[in-house]
Amino acid sequence: MTFNTSQGEFGRVYLDEKLLYSIMSNLLLNAIKYSPSGTQVTLKLEGDSEQIVFEVEDQGVGISEDEQANIFNPFYRGQNVEGISGSGLGLAVVSKCVEIQKGRIEVNSHVGEGTRFRVYIPRTDKNAIPAGIPRGIID
Ligand SMILES: Nc1ncnc2c1ncn2[C@@H]1O[C@H](COP(=O)(O)OP(=O)(O)OP(=O)(O)O)[C@@H](O)[C@H]1O
Ligand SMILES: [Mg+2]
Repeated sequence: MTFNTSQGEFGRVYLDEKLLYSIMSNLLLNAIKYSPSGTQVTLKLEGDSEQIVFEVEDQGVGISEDEQANIFNPFYRGQNVEGISGSGLGLAVVSKCVEIQKGRIEVNSHVGEGTRFRVYIPRTDKNAIPAGIPRGIID
């Protein structure tokens, strides 16, 4: 697994720790699970004054264009994941966690080549996070 960050100061972003954990663990576990052993999984962190971006990229089985529209629906599983266990819930959870933080998620994938997910989280003021959600600070 490769971790990359761009150089320099990111500043501070208000994020809920548990939501971030759900997002990153699901994306990384998928990347590992749907890739042959020995291939690269890359986690990259980027950002600017408006938002931060988490990118998880693999060289795995990929997701067809038709299926990309469905993968965020609960219980949906791709055609090419036979023999790899799962319930089809991970990305539905990720999508909800991203939505709560007013972010968005993007997928880019080619069958047999690999998949890249990008999560964009705006640098909102801490007061913009809905009440009841614990706040964590990521520097
Ligand atoms: N990195 C990836 N590479 C290839 N296919 C993926 C990848 N991530 C998700 N998918 C496809 O999207 C489907 C939905 O993913 P999701 O994480 O929601 O469910 P799951 O991994 O099948 O099960 P769960 O996460 O609940 O254990 C997967 O079944 C798979 O077809
Ligand atoms: Mg999953």
